[in-house]
Amino acid sequence: MCMRSITFKRAIDVELLVQLSVALLRLATCSRKMQLRRRNCLIMLTTSVLVPFSFIFFISRPDLSHEEELVQRLAELQVRLQYLEAVYRARQEDVAALQPTLDSTAALAPAIQGLLRNMTGLRSANGLNNTQIKGLRMPSSFHFLPHLLDNPLSIRPAFLVSNGRSGVSVVLGIPTVRREKETYLLPTLHNLVEAMNSEEAADSLIIVFIAETDMEYVLQTARLIENQFPNQIESGLIEILSPPASYYPDFDKLKMTLGDSLERVKWRTKQNLDFVFLMTYAQPKGTFYVQLEDDILAKHNFVTTMKNYAIEITAKKQHWFVLDFCQLGFIGKMFKSAELPWAITFFQMFYNDKPVDWLLNYLIVTKICNQDKDSKQCKQDKSKLWVHYKPSLFQHIGTHSSLKGKVQRLKDKQFGKVSLFFPHVNPPLASATSDIRTYKHYTLSRAYMGETYFWGLFAQQGDHLTFTFRNPITLTRFYLRSGNVEHLSDKFYNTTIGVLPVKNVVANQNFTQEGFITVGHFDSLGIAEGNVDPRLGKILAVRITVQSDSDTWVILSEVSTGKKINFSNYYL
Ligand SMILES: *[C@@H]1O[C@H](CO)[C@@H](O)[C@H](O)[C@H]1NC(C)=O
Ligand SMILES: *[C@@H]1O[C@H](CO)[C@@H](O)[C@H](O)[C@H]1NC(C)=O
Ligand SMILES: *[C@@H]1O[C@H](CO)[C@@H](O)[C@H](O)[C@H]1NC(C)=O
Ligand SMILES: *[C@@H]1O[C@H](CO)[C@@H](O)[C@H](O)[C@H]1NC(C)=O
Repeated sequence: MCMRSITFKRAIDVELLVQLSVALLRLATCSRKMQLRRRNCLIMLTTSVLVPFSFIFFISRPDLSHEEELVQRLAELQVRLQYLEAVYRARQEDVAALQPTLDSTAALAPAIQGLLRNMTGLRSANGLNNTQIKGLRMPSSFHFLPHLLDNPLSIRPAFLVSNGRSGVSVVLGIPTVRREKETYLLPTLHNLVEAMNSEEAADSLIIVFIAETDMEYVLQTARLIENQFPNQIESGLIEILSPPASYYPDFDKLKMTLGDSLERVKWRTKQNLDFVFLMTYAQPKGTFYVQLEDDILAKHNFVTTMKNYAIEITAKKQHWFVLDFCQLGFIGKMFKSAELPWAITFFQMFYNDKPVDWLLNYLIVTKICNQDKDSKQCKQDKSKLWVHYKPSLFQHIGTHSSLKGKVQRLKDKQFGKVSLFFPHVNPPLASATSDIRTYKHYTLSRAYMGETYFWGLFAQQGDHLTFTFRNPITLTRFYLRSGNVEHLSDKFYNTTIGVLPVKNVVANQNFTQEGFITVGHFDSLGIAEGNVDPRLGKILAVRITVQSDSDTWVILSEVSTGKKINFSNYYL
């Protein structure tokens, strides 16, 4: 302990400590001013600051020297304090608004009083003691979005499913809108949840912002999410919210800007306002905020990677504004929650003028670039505030943008390759047959052997895909995945799985397709999995049966007579 204290003294960054103490002091005065009960204040200070401080002495990461470790811990505390400060500042504003204005002339210095006496009779003499003096009204959100004043409920979520989780490390914001084609929201949520370990899941918050005002659609989507993620809703990891219709201006009265079509202006204007609503809701919920989209893949343990990187770079005293974990659009952009108001206000000011990704760029240019220097210098300066992390942690999976006709095929080259199929070692087959016409060399038997995926043309009602084992097997579990990240919609719809027990074949005395017993079906995510009743005995064949015509092609990307492969952990 003594040894460690000495190391501590030497290693502590003086500037960081000063900042920390200032922040603490401010926090303390702020609470006092607000007449919070001191006990509360004390408890808060103890838990938020002293407890983590004591951890400095006990927690160690093996790969870091003590010094580095302490600096990183302090950086973590520093960002956390900024967040707590921002939360308290909001409360302080509420209190300030209630305070009566003070008599400005209550305690004038004697010299000023003498001067005033000498000015008797002049109008200027009343300048200090003018009953007309009132506080200025600084512009607020209402100045930029005046329609919000028309309805007192315009900035209150119209729909909210929340377990009230807050104070987490990382808040993930996912805006989603109704799409003409298929939505990827549920696969995206699965990808995110699967890519988190239990500690990450306990210290994060996923906010799904359904940016639609049709309550029927909102309720249906929320029901789908809850059906798939009952535990995550219950634990508070996933929240769902939607805005009221009165939050949006009349989209037919927008200023036409940038020479864009009305449809495009509407689309990008709404997107700006959606970000504003989501970010404003998310801001007090955690230390860091990460903007995501509703059609993405995430790498395993992405939460820890992002958090550690943020702390590491803060410890190096780089005053970053955005940490970018994906090279595309508005995916994987991390902000300190305490600094979100900059983005929110900027987006509010120019919501009708520019698309959101441009605005973020302009905000950073405004913050750091010297107009008198060239664009190369600006680019260099920008990279200090907007820091790119490689390799990327997120990848696009959607192929359709919600703006009609705009096909979104952009992929992040920094993400690395994602496997389009998941090989397994399965028992040997006698045959693999398909009624669905096979595309190129993407055959069923190669898919079964884990060489590629099966790709077939439009499946029709009654089509079968049959795997017949060379020797009957004991089958206890099966896992079949259809579709892949490049062709998410090429999955089995309304399709069942049957198994053929040997005893049924023997009873039949012939090998027509009779005797199959249905043991499962493909779900809305394109996955069929389940257990097989051991009482069925040895199994001779597994058969996939299409129950109704499909208007897409179909991919079978994983065939397992056992467990599945951990999807998010499977990048090449
Ligand atoms: C008052 O004004 C007179 C001249 O108008 C000046 O001489 C005197 O110094 C002033 N007194 C004070 C206290 O400023
Ligand atoms: C300010 O004005 C009020 C009334 O108008 C008066 O009673 C008061 O004495 C004035 N104070 C000073 C410092 O001139
Ligand atoms: C084969 O099984 C089917 C269905 O159980 C039955 O209709 C058919 O007569 C059987 N054929 C032979 C040759 O046993
Ligand atoms: C699935 O197919 C069956 C048989 O064609 C049909 O009756 C049923 O309505 C279909 N279900 C769905 C959800 O399409």
